[in-house]
Amino acid sequence: MQKRQFIKDILLTGMAIPLGFNGISKAFASQSHVSPEALAADNAFWEEIRNQYLLKPDYINLENGYYNFLPQPLLNKYIEHIKEINYQGSYYMRTVQWENKQKSVIGLAAIAGCSPDELIITRNTTESLDTIIGGIHWQIGDEAIMAEQDYGAMLDMFKLVSDRYGVVNKFISVPNHPKDDDEIVDLYKNAITTKTKVILVSHMINITGQILPIKKISEMAHQHGVQVIVDGAHAFAHIQYSIADLGCDYYAASLHKWLSVPLGAGILFVKKDLIKNIWPLIGDGEKDPNKIKRLNHTGTHPVHTDLTIPDSIAYYQMIGPAKKEARLRWLQQYWTSKIKDHPNILLNTPTDAARACAISNVGIQGMKPAILAERLMKEHKIFTVAIDYANVHGCRITPNLYTTTKELDQFVQALHSLAKA
Ligand SMILES: Cc1ncc(COP(=O)(O)O)c(C=O)c1O
Repeated sequence: MQKRQFIKDILLTGMAIPLGFNGISKAFASQSHVSPEALAADNAFWEEIRNQYLLKPDYINLENGYYNFLPQPLLNKYIEHIKEINYQGSYYMRTVQWENKQKSVIGLAAIAGCSPDELIITRNTTESLDTIIGGIHWQIGDEAIMAEQDYGAMLDMFKLVSDRYGVVNKFISVPNHPKDDDEIVDLYKNAITTKTKVILVSHMINITGQILPIKKISEMAHQHGVQVIVDGAHAFAHIQYSIADLGCDYYAASLHKWLSVPLGAGILFVKKDLIKNIWPLIGDGEKDPNKIKRLNHTGTHPVHTDLTIPDSIAYYQMIGPAKKEARLRWLQQYWTSKIKDHPNILLNTPTDAARACAISNVGIQGMKPAILAERLMKEHKIFTVAIDYANVHGCRITPNLYTTTKELDQFVQALHSLAKA
């Protein structure tokens, strides 16, 4: 029987047979001739990925932004690593721990588009960015530019830096529907003065999913002698890019979001010639000021998470970065196109395909986001997260590769009924 027919038959009978790591990689290999855009619309094909997840039947999960829990084949690898570390104990820690971590760095650097000498594995984006924000040699009166839509923990860190060193924090506000890149670039540009030292900018704004023109912002900032720190928590292994091409000075991301690494892993990129300027968060034995290792002391930590990184990379490569991105964007556009013209439903994410991918944000006229989230969960069994600040009033909606159009249809129907209630 042809594989596709087999899959369709399974769907018709409502059965789900997980294919496992090898099975799924064969399925993807068999579709290697299909373009990402064509495969993105092939719902039967993506059921194979859905079958790899153990999903709670209690609700439709449209909140995959906080943490992308693992598909079963990756969870099994992770459990194997936990068992192996528990078996080897200190022997592992004293022998190949660092060599293995470096292998993970090399794999991550290849995806990120930077040199392994410029990348470290941290616990998360927060640790990565706070290492930079707290580690810059600030002078009293230095200025930093950030957006009110940036992630709260980074804004909190800038507040600490302001209290401690007298840094002046200047805020811009990113519009939910910019007319073009220049409008965004100009917002940052107009906030620059002779005292500006850095710009913090989100690659993908976490509350709306809007993708910002990092390359253009970096080019503009550098013309003014300003450094650029990018919060890429949501962009890594979600949309394709290369840090070298973006041209920023520092870049951070979380691996437990879109790369499907177990909880507690992130990356920090620091441009080679800037490494020596950053004061480490935790002291390390590395004395060469140009080695990024001096910013990477962790103490003893769960090494099985690091060990799962190459498995997660293999899974990501097996799907194919372009195919993953295309499917995620297709899912988002599938549902947003059905509500974008509704007079009472407010889409807080740009409709231009290049300005968003999986994540978007939607509100209902006259309804508090917290009420919307509560009613979606209670009345429609749809799990989302309410956002109600920084000019964004709605629920963040984050499908994942396992999300089906049937689930999104249910969500759209729920929005329509809530919008007229
Ligand atoms: C834009 C952005 N930055 C930073 C973070 C913090 O990530 P973590 O908690 O993994 O450090 C998040 C988390 O959702 C985020 O969305």
